[in-house]
Amino acid sequence: MENKKSETLLEVKNLKKYFKTPGGMLHAVDDVSFRIQRGRTLGVVGESGCGKSTLGRTLLCLNEPTAGEILFQGTDIAKLGKKQMKAVRPKMQMIFQDPYSSLNGRMTVRQLIAEPLIVNKLCKKRQEIDNRVDEIMEIVGLAPRLAAAYPHELDGGRRQRIGIARTLILNPEFVVCDEPVSALDVSIQAQILNLLMDLQEDRNLTYIFITHDLSVVKHISDEIMVMYLGKCVEYAPADEIFEHPQHPYTRALLNAIPIPSIESCHKRRELLQGEVTSPINPKPGCRFAARCPYAKEECRSCTMELRETQPGHYTACPYAEGLEL
Ligand SMILES: Nc1ncnc2c1ncn2[C@@H]1O[C@H](COP(=O)(O)OP(=O)(O)OP(=O)(O)O)[C@@H](O)[C@H]1O
Ligand SMILES: [Mg+2]
Repeated sequence: MENKKSETLLEVKNLKKYFKTPGGMLHAVDDVSFRIQRGRTLGVVGESGCGKSTLGRTLLCLNEPTAGEILFQGTDIAKLGKKQMKAVRPKMQMIFQDPYSSLNGRMTVRQLIAEPLIVNKLCKKRQEIDNRVDEIMEIVGLAPRLAAAYPHELDGGRRQRIGIARTLILNPEFVVCDEPVSALDVSIQAQILNLLMDLQEDRNLTYIFITHDLSVVKHISDEIMVMYLGKCVEYAPADEIFEHPQHPYTRALLNAIPIPSIESCHKRRELLQGEVTSPINPKPGCRFAARCPYAKEECRSCTMELRETQPGHYTACPYAEGLEL
């Protein structure tokens, strides 16, 4: 087990994804690097539009990267041909935020869960497909009687279980979970998170868990990457991010988590002020400077590189350690 834990499954080097827009180049993901060990979870957090989904899609080559390397088990998958990619595709899968819009409403639960097997030509015999679907339905907690139901007849939690089943039936090794619980009621969120964690343990799955909500990633993540306008601004073990946040943006995100206590009602919460910088043709300098209460003149012109400030803790703010909380 220890051996497996220290195996790097995915290594990303200087990944960029730019989109051409009428206003110029939109830097959705801008020079992001990290690695994930097999069986672990990297939480990716940041506000809407910071590039989380684009990062997830680009890692799976659903978007063509503008630059950089995506080493999956040591092979740069961005450089693979169609045929080679076909072999890798089932190993790298994605679970989406809104299971309703990502499911074809005209298909039954059984057809929906069988579809990835058929599309990827992994299984041809009817009986074998049916058996695999039955098995996966049981694993994700869908009752057998639901096999003939349609997605609109089910609640959000069950629809997300279908999404998870469609991923799982391909026996993936790496799964990008893109806001998989954001559309669900709080009580159902916990059930789905527990299911994802149980599946990870049983199958030694490796996750990227994308969310705008830090409280959701707290329990599920081993490491956390905080993104701001396409850039990674802080990267550290999950406990470290919560106990010793360094980057002013991470601190602002943590301040925004509602704490349900009477005491906290009286505590002044510092919320972010100022305009979000445009991701189109961004200027050099820290992209958070316009909203940062600690910004100095040089923050607006110097490029902010990630620095290892503590072992395993990287921050893209040269002043982070000296800031008063
Ligand atoms: N296909 C595309 N063409 C042009 N711009 C795009 C495209 N996809 C995403 N973008 C832009 O890239 C930026 C990052 O978008 P992305 O969807 O990755 O953000 P996100 O962090 O997932 O946001 P959310 O939390 O709202 O899901 C946004 O400015 C978005 O408008
Ligand atoms: Mg998104």
